[in-house]
Parts: sequence; structure tokens; C-alpha cells
Amino acid sequence: MAIRIGDIAPDFTVETTEGTIHFHEWLGSQWGILFSHPKDFTPVCTTELGTVANMQPEFAKRNTRVLAVSVDTVADHHEWIKDINETQNTTMNYPVIADSERVVANLYDMIHPNADDTLTVRSVFFIGPDKKVKATLTYPASTGRNFDEVLRVLDSLQLTGNYQVATPANWKQGDDCIIVPSVTNEEIAEKFPKGHTMVKPYLRTTPQPDI
Ligand code: BEZ
Repeated sequence: MAIRIGDIAPDFTVETTEGTIHFHEWLGSQWGILFSHPKDFTPVCTTELGTVANMQPEFAKRNTRVLAVSVDTVADHHEWIKDINETQNTTMNYPVIADSERVVANLYDMIHPNADDTLTVRSVFFIGPDKKVKATLTYPASTGRNFDEVLRVLDSLQLTGNYQVATPANWKQGDDCIIVPSVTNEEIAEKFPKGHTMVKPYLRTTPQPDI
């Protein structure tokens, strides 16, 4: 069954390039990004995994652990990682699950048979410290993901989790945020000391609270 926003992210125990991982335990109290890619030794995937390795400091800054999934073996992953490091000017620094039995792929509905009946699509699951799924993205094999967008979504989710704000279309770091409808006008002054703008009674903006 499809995993939806608000569901508990299914737990699993798997072999990875960094040893056995018990997923929930490995996440601890951090945020998690679980992302699948179709196959080892493929060009788009090579750029994606290298890009994420180069962006590790950004994920760490956001208290977020990253875990990749591929339906290949640990031995294949280790061989491929040599190519990733060489071609993407990086050193792999996060685990890749060896999901040759498709346990995680099936648990997270990452195989879309009408696209390909054996390989995983490009899924991203954003998981909060409460182990609930906060957002998902799905791309076909031919479209490499924009990991700046993954960071942007993480920033938005963390803002919503910590303050009562949402983020508008095309929001980026430093832009104004939207005060969520559950906050009454009477509560605004105390909750948003940086001030606010009442564009419409239902559209109230405030400077980004955490900067
Ligand atoms: C790739 O990563 O380049 C790729 C993988 C499967 C199908 C198409 C592209």
C-alpha cells in the first residue's frame, strides 16, 4: 500500500555499505531522508549519489541523516562507489542499502510496475523525528532530482514543525512566511514578534522566524 504523509515510516533492518542498519534506531531523534534510485552503474544515479555526498554538510546542518536505496548488492555498491568518488569529485559519506531482495523497495512502494517492474523509481521520503512521513517526491528514472529542492522542502518542514508558519510558492531561505490559519489574529503579536502583514484576513505574512 502507498505510504502517505502522516503515516509512520515503516521500520526495517537491512545490510548497507556501512553495515547493518535498524532504520528507526539509526534515525534516533534526527530527521531522515530515504531515497531510492533505479540501479548501480547508471549515469543519472551516479550524479545523484555524488551530489548528495557533496551536500552532506547541508544535511548535517539540518540535523538530517541520509540513506540511499538500490536493488543491488553491497559488493556492487562498493565497486560503484569507486566510480562515484572518481567522477563526482567526492568521497561517499552516507550508507547505501543493498536491497537486492527488494524488501525496502516493496515496503515503501518504490517499484512502479507500469514504469519498470524490477527497478525502483526515484522516490524521496522526508521523515520527521517522530518517525512520521512529512513529505514525498517521486521522479522517473530519466529525471535526476534537484537536491537543492530537497533541502528547501526540509527547511520548510522544519519551519512548520518549530513555528506556526507555512511557506508560500517558490519560497526560499530569508523570504517571508505565512502564518498558519489556526493562529488567531489576537495571538499574532505574541507569537510573531518580528511583525506581520495582513494581506487578506486569511493571508498573513511574517518575516522568517528562525533567522
Ligand atoms: C540512470 O541513472 O541514468 C538511469 C537509470 C535507469 C534508467 C534510466 C537512467
